[in-house]
Amino acid sequence: MRHLFSINDLSSAEIERIFAITQDLKSKFEQGVREPLLPGRVMALLFEKPSLRTRVSFEAGMSHLGGSSLFLGEDVGWGSRESIADFGRVLSQFVDVIVVRAKAHQKILDLAEHSTCPVINGLTDYCHPCQALADLYTVREHFAAMKGLKVAYVGDANNVARSLGEICGKLGVKFACAAPNGYQFSDEEVKQLRQESSGINLQLTDDPKAAVKDAQAVYTDVWTSMGQEAEREVRRKVFAAYQVNESLMKAAPKDALFMHCLPANRGEEVTDGVMDSQNSVVVQQAGNRMHVQKGVLAWLLGSKA
Ligand code: CP
Ligand code: NVA
Repeated sequence: MRHLFSINDLSSAEIERIFAITQDLKSKFEQGVREPLLPGRVMALLFEKPSLRTRVSFEAGMSHLGGSSLFLGEDVGWGSRESIADFGRVLSQFVDVIVVRAKAHQKILDLAEHSTCPVINGLTDYCHPCQALADLYTVREHFAAMKGLKVAYVGDANNVARSLGEICGKLGVKFACAAPNGYQFSDEEVKQLRQESSGINLQLTDDPKAAVKDAQAVYTDVWTSMGQEAEREVRRKVFAAYQVNESLMKAAPKDALFMHCLPANRGEEVTDGVMDSQNSVVVQQAGNRMHVQKGVLAWLLGSKA
């Protein structure tokens, strides 16, 4: 039985397979066709943090596939009303797949250890693999070949950046990350990224302009992630020079895409001008969350594996 905790759980060929299933399902969706590949299957969404995109895209996607979903918030008492082991053993008796959004990454690993059905990471403090799959699927829709492209991430080297770096490494896309001192990937994380994809082309810098030079896509995320609210004022100062604005986009090639996982704090990490520019693909990215997650569900649970 497979789980999806991080991009590192997938080989490059498996990512390509998921993308191929996605492309098929997306094109059918656009023609008004919903292919019920997973009739009667039930998905639980176990969320400890707020969500719009992840929750709704999974629920809508599962419905297109002929299955159904159950949203479970904090009131189900995951890890408080009973042990995580008992919770995982019991929940997996009822459902076919569990999507988890957890405050601590270890909690999803602990749940999966006792689950008899696949567990998918819908964001933890450590990584956000479903986001990265949708991001690179979006890049792929804009460029004929992935190999040799460069994605530049500007901001906090956080959960979103980690998964983005991992998937770029797997797909032969150069990955640059510009972050201030203290908010860049640690030496240990860099070592891990290199172990996961031996051919990874990684550029770590504190200079946003150096990162976006020659990049086909410029990506940012919030400076203060969920759970870090107490650090907000400090982070606003630390990241002030890392805003993706019109001036920074001028340092990138003219047709570079602008990407953001959303939700965005307009006026902080990105200006309205960049978010709403012709080069911005943020809505396409969000839409692709649903298509790619349908690909993941069909790959994990269905006959398309
Ligand atoms: N990008 C993303 O995961 O959005 P939500 O937090 O709304 O799910
Ligand atoms: N880094 C952000 C991503 C939200 C989708 C967070 O963890 O809050």
